[in-house]
Amino acid sequence: MAKIAVMGCGTVGAGVIRVFSMNRDEITRRVGEEIEVKYALDLREFPGTPIEKILTHDFQDILNDPEVSVVVETMGGLKPSYQFTKQLLEAGKSVCTSNKELVAEHGVELRKIAVEHNANYLFEASCGGGIPIIRTLNASLTGEKIEEVTGILNGTTNYILTNMTEEGKDFAEALKEAQQKGYAELHPEADIEGYDACRKIAILSSLAYGCHISYKDVATEGITNVDDTDIEYVKAMNCRIKLLGTSRREKNGTWALVAPMVIGSENLLTTVDGVMNAVLVKGNAVGTTMYYGSGAGSLPTASAVVGDVIECVKSIGTPLRLDYSSEQLQLMPVDEVERPFFVRYRGTEAEAVNTFGPIRHARHLEGHADEFAFITRKMSEKQFRDCVAADARVIKWFRRGKKEEQE
Ligand code: HSE
Repeated sequence: MAKIAVMGCGTVGAGVIRVFSMNRDEITRRVGEEIEVKYALDLREFPGTPIEKILTHDFQDILNDPEVSVVVETMGGLKPSYQFTKQLLEAGKSVCTSNKELVAEHGVELRKIAVEHNANYLFEASCGGGIPIIRTLNASLTGEKIEEVTGILNGTTNYILTNMTEEGKDFAEALKEAQQKGYAELHPEADIEGYDACRKIAILSSLAYGCHISYKDVATEGITNVDDTDIEYVKAMNCRIKLLGTSRREKNGTWALVAPMVIGSENLLTTVDGVMNAVLVKGNAVGTTMYYGSGAGSLPTASAVVGDVIECVKSIGTPLRLDYSSEQLQLMPVDEVERPFFVRYRGTEAEAVNTFGPIRHARHLEGHADEFAFITRKMSEKQFRDCVAADARVIKWFRRGKKEEQE
């Protein structure tokens, strides 16, 4: 029998314990032996729950128990999860995590320590909740030169935008619901300001391109700037606003960006609603592939962690190959990226054309007589920003999904 421990019994950790219990027979059959959760580490008490019987408040119980070969880290944040993970790996125990903050900040180092100690550091649940995207990049798309990764990578913001668009809910109400459903981070700024999606696109891009991309280099905007009127204009264009994380290898370099973008019915991501996430990966041989599933929530995220634990148990003593390089990739500025833009404008169409050149899809909304919205021609972000700076009639703008992102 393999013995494991779970550190952090919040939404995901409690889900991991539940999945091991509810799928015990299936898991035993697949692994060839039973997996027992021997410890659950948390500062809190859990009276009357299954966690109570295996609860410890002392990390040393796990670290010093030679029976425990794999540890789940679902504590979140950097402290004390970084130190705990490091100590466990140095002791030769494998660690499986959903902690994207820790993976984005110290993943390369922790992965190296794991390999040096014949252990694994796996993080399938760190990106896209239950979507098996990391294993896909590492095991299935290995014959590809990957050219682009674009995804809806945050369940909370997708839930908020969907509810604002389809139900007319306001931002605060939709966020509250996402929190109640266990989708949001402890500090929801990480979701709504785009930081969570930023870490995820940095992790996925590092795996896709085989070089380390620091999340600190990814240009990031959240959804706090999106209001009801923007959504009405975008709907009138038969489009949707989605928070996308995207990176692309182009002739003159690689860029990465997290931002709310206007995408249309030609883009598969437009129909990804609520807490669902999806990732498009474009390879030079396979073309565009897409992966879809629950981006947040207890059981879907736990499922990804449990998959990693099983992988670790099956490969004890032999670290799995992972293309997670420490070589740094310098991103090119998004200023040079060309795309069309969505603009809300307080002026005439002639004035807009004068500033931006040809415009398309002009839409006027009832009750907003003094403004209209349109889509510009394709231009570089620098060119576009120069136009905006020169014309005070621009109320607001968003990026329109690039043609390539719509294939
Ligand atoms: N807060 C995250 C989200 C949880 O909403 O996507 C899953 O990483």
